Amino acid sequence: MAEQKVALVTGSAGGLGREVGRQLVAAGIHVIISARRPEAAAVAAADIGATALSVGLDVSSAESVAAAVRELEAGPGRLDILVNNAAAAATRRGW
Ligand SMILES: NC(=O)c1ccc[n+]([C@@H]2O[C@H](COP(=O)([O-])OP(=O)(O)OC[C@H]3O[C@@H](n4cnc5c(N)ncnc54)[C@H](OP(=O)(O)O)[C@@H]3O)[C@@H](O)[C@H]2O)c1
Repeated sequence: MAEQKVALVTGSAGGLGREVGRQLVAAGIHVIISARRPEAAAVAAADIGATALSVGLDVSSAESVAAAVRELEAGPGRLDILVNNAAAAATRRGW
Protein backbone atom coordinates (compact mmCIF):
# COMPACT_ATOMS: atom_id res chain seq x y z
CA MET A 1 0.00 0.00 0.00
CA ALA A 2 1.28 3.48 -0.89
CA GLU A 3 2.27 5.73 2.01
CA GLN A 4 -0.31 8.34 2.92
CA LYS A 5 0.50 11.71 1.40
CA VAL A 6 0.84 14.73 3.69
CA ALA A 7 -0.51 18.18 2.77
CA LEU A 8 -0.07 21.53 4.52
CA VAL A 9 -2.76 24.15 3.89
CA THR A 10 -1.84 27.66 5.05
CA GLY A 11 -4.61 29.85 6.48
CA SER A 12 -6.91 26.89 6.92
CA ALA A 13 -8.60 27.55 10.27
CA GLY A 14 -11.48 29.04 8.30
CA GLY A 15 -12.73 30.11 4.91
CA LEU A 16 -11.48 28.59 1.68
CA GLY A 17 -8.42 27.00 3.29
CA ARG A 18 -10.52 25.04 5.74
CA GLU A 19 -12.69 23.71 2.91
CA VAL A 20 -9.58 22.74 0.94
CA GLY A 21 -8.35 20.90 4.03
CA ARG A 22 -11.68 19.12 4.43
CA GLN A 23 -11.65 17.96 0.81
CA LEU A 24 -8.05 16.75 1.00
CA VAL A 25 -8.92 14.67 4.08
CA ALA A 26 -11.93 13.28 2.19
CA ALA A 27 -9.50 12.30 -0.59
CA GLY A 28 -7.47 10.24 1.90
CA ILE A 29 -4.67 12.71 2.49
CA HIS A 30 -3.17 13.50 5.88
CA VAL A 31 -3.68 17.25 6.28
CA ILE A 32 -1.96 19.83 8.45
CA ILE A 33 -4.35 22.69 9.19
CA SER A 34 -2.51 25.92 9.95
CA ALA A 35 -3.22 29.49 10.99
CA ARG A 36 -1.65 32.22 13.09
CA ARG A 37 -3.89 31.20 16.01
CA PRO A 38 -2.92 27.62 16.88
CA GLU A 39 -6.10 27.14 18.93
CA ALA A 40 -8.28 28.02 15.93
CA ALA A 41 -6.27 25.64 13.75
CA ALA A 42 -6.69 22.88 16.35
CA VAL A 43 -10.47 23.37 16.50
CA ALA A 44 -10.72 23.24 12.70
CA ALA A 45 -8.55 20.12 12.51
CA ALA A 46 -10.64 18.36 15.16
CA ASP A 47 -13.81 19.22 13.24
CA ILE A 48 -12.39 18.02 9.94
CA GLY A 49 -11.35 14.58 11.09
CA ALA A 50 -8.82 12.16 12.46
CA THR A 51 -6.31 12.59 9.64
CA ALA A 52 -6.12 16.34 10.17
CA LEU A 53 -3.48 17.74 12.50
CA SER A 54 -2.78 21.37 13.25
CA VAL A 55 0.13 23.73 13.61
CA GLY A 56 0.46 27.44 14.35
CA LEU A 57 1.89 29.19 11.29
CA ASP A 58 2.08 32.85 10.27
CA VAL A 59 3.22 32.91 6.63
CA SER A 60 4.42 36.51 7.05
CA SER A 61 6.97 35.48 9.70
CA ALA A 62 10.19 33.66 8.76
CA GLU A 63 10.54 32.56 12.40
CA SER A 64 7.04 31.09 12.40
CA VAL A 65 7.70 29.27 9.12
CA ALA A 66 10.94 27.83 10.51
CA ALA A 67 9.13 26.68 13.67
CA ALA A 68 6.41 25.01 11.59
CA VAL A 69 9.05 23.20 9.51
CA ARG A 70 10.57 21.87 12.73
CA GLU A 71 7.13 20.65 13.86
CA LEU A 72 6.55 18.93 10.53
CA GLU A 73 9.96 17.28 10.69
CA ALA A 74 9.25 16.03 14.21
CA GLY A 75 5.68 14.96 13.31
CA PRO A 76 4.80 13.50 9.90
CA GLY A 77 8.39 13.87 8.70
CA ARG A 78 7.39 14.62 5.12
CA LEU A 79 5.42 17.11 3.03
CA ASP A 80 4.01 16.14 -0.37
CA ILE A 81 1.54 18.96 -1.03
CA LEU A 82 1.61 22.66 -0.08
CA VAL A 83 -1.56 24.71 -0.59
CA ASN A 84 -0.36 28.28 -0.08
CA ASN A 85 -3.81 29.71 0.63
CA ALA A 86 -3.13 32.38 3.27
CA ALA A 87 -2.67 35.85 1.89
CA ALA A 88 -0.25 38.10 3.76
CA ALA A 89 0.39 41.73 2.93
CA ALA A 90 3.97 42.49 1.93
CA THR A 91 3.97 45.75 3.88
CA ARG A 92 2.08 47.15 6.84
CA ARG A 93 0.24 49.38 4.41
CA GLY A 94 -1.29 46.37 2.66
CA TRP A 95 -1.21 45.38 -1.00
N1 LIG B 1 -12.96 34.77 -0.05
C1 LIG B 1 -12.89 35.26 -1.32
O1 LIG B 1 -13.87 35.67 -1.93
C2 LIG B 1 -11.56 35.30 -2.02
C3 LIG B 1 -11.49 35.80 -3.31
C4 LIG B 1 -10.25 35.83 -3.97
C5 LIG B 1 -9.11 35.37 -3.33
N2 LIG B 1 -9.21 34.90 -2.07
C6 LIG B 1 -7.97 34.42 -1.44
O2 LIG B 1 -8.21 33.12 -0.92
C7 LIG B 1 -7.47 32.95 0.28
C8 LIG B 1 -8.41 32.57 1.43
O3 LIG B 1 -9.40 33.57 1.55
P1 LIG B 1 -10.54 33.42 2.66
O4 LIG B 1 -11.57 34.44 2.33
O5 LIG B 1 -10.93 31.98 2.81
O6 LIG B 1 -9.74 33.89 3.97
P2 LIG B 1 -10.29 33.98 5.48
O7 LIG B 1 -11.68 33.47 5.62
O8 LIG B 1 -9.99 35.37 5.90
O9 LIG B 1 -9.38 32.94 6.21
C9 LIG B 1 -8.15 33.30 6.48
C10 LIG B 1 -7.48 32.15 7.21
O10 LIG B 1 -6.13 32.42 7.07
C11 LIG B 1 -5.56 32.55 8.36
N3 LIG B 1 -4.53 33.60 8.20
C12 LIG B 1 -4.69 34.94 8.05
N4 LIG B 1 -3.50 35.54 7.96
C13 LIG B 1 -2.56 34.55 8.03
C14 LIG B 1 -1.15 34.53 8.00
N5 LIG B 1 -0.42 35.65 7.90
N6 LIG B 1 -0.52 33.32 8.07
C15 LIG B 1 -1.22 32.19 8.18
N7 LIG B 1 -2.56 32.13 8.24
C16 LIG B 1 -3.22 33.31 8.16
C17 LIG B 1 -6.71 32.88 9.32
O11 LIG B 1 -6.52 32.42 10.65
P3 LIG B 1 -5.62 33.27 11.71
O12 LIG B 1 -6.28 34.61 11.83
O13 LIG B 1 -5.63 32.45 12.95
O14 LIG B 1 -4.25 33.34 11.10
C18 LIG B 1 -7.81 32.05 8.67
O15 LIG B 1 -7.71 30.71 9.09
C19 LIG B 1 -6.74 34.26 0.54
O16 LIG B 1 -5.43 34.15 -0.01
C20 LIG B 1 -7.55 35.28 -0.25
O17 LIG B 1 -6.76 36.37 -0.64
C21 LIG B 1 -10.40 34.86 -1.40
